Amino acid sequence: MPEIPDVQLGGLYGDRILEHYRNPHNRGPVAEPDLEAHEFNPFCGDRVDLFLKLDGQNRVSEINADSDGCSIIQASTSMLSDLLKGKTLEEIAGLSSTFRSMMTGKDVPPEALAGLGELEALQVVRRYPVRIKCALLPWTALEEALEAYRSRAA
Ligand code: FES
Repeated sequence: MPEIPDVQLGGLYGDRILEHYRNPHNRGPVAEPDLEAHEFNPFCGDRVDLFLKLDGQNRVSEINADSDGCSIIQASTSMLSDLLKGKTLEEIAGLSSTFRSMMTGKDVPPEALAGLGELEALQVVRRYPVRIKCALLPWTALEEALEAYRSRAA
């Protein structure tokens, strides 16, 4: 099993990450969720659980986002949970793609980057390639939840 390096967090972006890690958002339960997903990182055993409720018009009205693990997975999960509220499933798929592009170093137009809100801070994690998976794990869970929901609806 590869060693997972520590991330040195500093500056404005680091402060945002640590704030979400220490006070994660949207941990309250969601009754009768429309989408749910569970993912874990086999290298460390850290995990994420997502539960989303829709408002009947394909917009997220409630979200429970819970993760156990390092500062990066917890901050990414918390930031994601703030961003998704009020978004349609189509918008969420676009945000997920933008976030994945940012984390893997692809060119992302500034207006698309701005749409990620606080998640932009996680680009500092790109300096630690092994830890990129920590940031992406909640998004992998989300993409699986979207796929399962679409399959059920088809
Ligand atoms: Fe386990 Fe980050 S070290 S998800």
